[in-house]
Amino acid sequence: MVAEFDDVAAWTAEAVEHLGGEHAIPAACRGSSSPAALAWLAEACELSAGDRLLDVGAGSGGPAAWVAKHFGVKPVLLEPMPAAGRAAARLFGLPVVAAAGHQIPLRSESVDAAWCLGVLCTVEDKLSILREIHRVLVPDAPLGLLVVVADHPVLRPPDGNYFPTQDELVALLNDAGFDLIEQIERPAGVPLSWTRRADAVTALVQARYRRHPAYSLALRQGSRLTQLFDRKNISVQLIHAVKMQRPAQLVT
Ligand SMILES: C[S@@+](CC[C@H](N)C(=O)[O-])C[C@H]1O[C@@H](n2cnc3c(N)ncnc32)[C@H](O)[C@@H]1O
Repeated sequence: MVAEFDDVAAWTAEAVEHLGGEHAIPAACRGSSSPAALAWLAEACELSAGDRLLDVGAGSGGPAAWVAKHFGVKPVLLEPMPAAGRAAARLFGLPVVAAAGHQIPLRSESVDAAWCLGVLCTVEDKLSILREIHRVLVPDAPLGLLVVVADHPVLRPPDGNYFPTQDELVALLNDAGFDLIEQIERPAGVPLSWTRRADAVTALVQARYRRHPAYSLALRQGSRLTQLFDRKNISVQLIHAVKMQRPAQLVT
C-alpha cells in the first residue's frame, strides 16, 4: 500500500508541478476519479459553502480540492501516508492532519460532514474508522462514501484490499450509528478533458519511474483490480449516510 498510496502520490505531485496546475485535481483523485461521482456525493450530502468537511483517507487531495472549488466547503484532510499528505498540501494548500481514521485527532462533534472515498475497501478494521467518523460529526451530519463492494467474498484480493460485501457494509454502517439514505453504482463516463489531464500525469510518472520497484508493484495491484472489475466481481458504490440520533449499537 505504501507503493500505491505514498510513492505514487509523491511522483504524481512532482509530475503535476512539471505539467501545470490544471492537471492537479484529475491526477490527485485516486479511487474516485470522476467529476460525476464527486458531484453526486456533494449533492447527496447537501454540502454548501463554509461547511467543514473532513475527508478521511484523503490521499493527495483531489476530491477535497474539487469539492472546495465547486461547492465552497472548507475541507480538512486526514491522511496517514506522509508523502500523500505532503502532496495534498503542496498541490492544493489544504490543511492536512497526518493520522489514520481509527483515531481521529479532532474534538467530538466538530465537523459538519465527512467523506471517506476508496478507503474502507483497503482497511480490515472498518468499524473503528466509521465509529470515529461518527464521533467527530455534528448530529444529523452527512457521510459520503465511495466503496469497492464485492458481490461475494473475493478469493485472493490484491494485497491490502478488503472488499466488503453489500450486507457487510450495511451492517457496519448500522453498527457505527449511521442510516444509509441512498446508494448508487458510480456513474459511468468521465469527460475527455479530465482523462486527458490524468493520463498525461500517469505517462510522465511512468516515463520517470517505470523501473522503480514501487511502480511495478502499484501496476500489478492495478491490473488485478481491473481483472476483478471486468469479471463484475466488484463494483464501485457511492453511498450517502447520515449520523443517527440514537447512540451506535455496541457490537460484542
Ligand atoms: C484509494 S486511496 C483514495 C484516496 C482519496 N480518498 C481519493 O479518492 O482520491 C485510499 C487512501 O486511504 C488511505 N488510508 C489507508 N489506510 C487508512 C486508514 N486506516 N485511515 C485513513 N486513511 C487510510 C491511504 O493512505 C490512501 O490515501
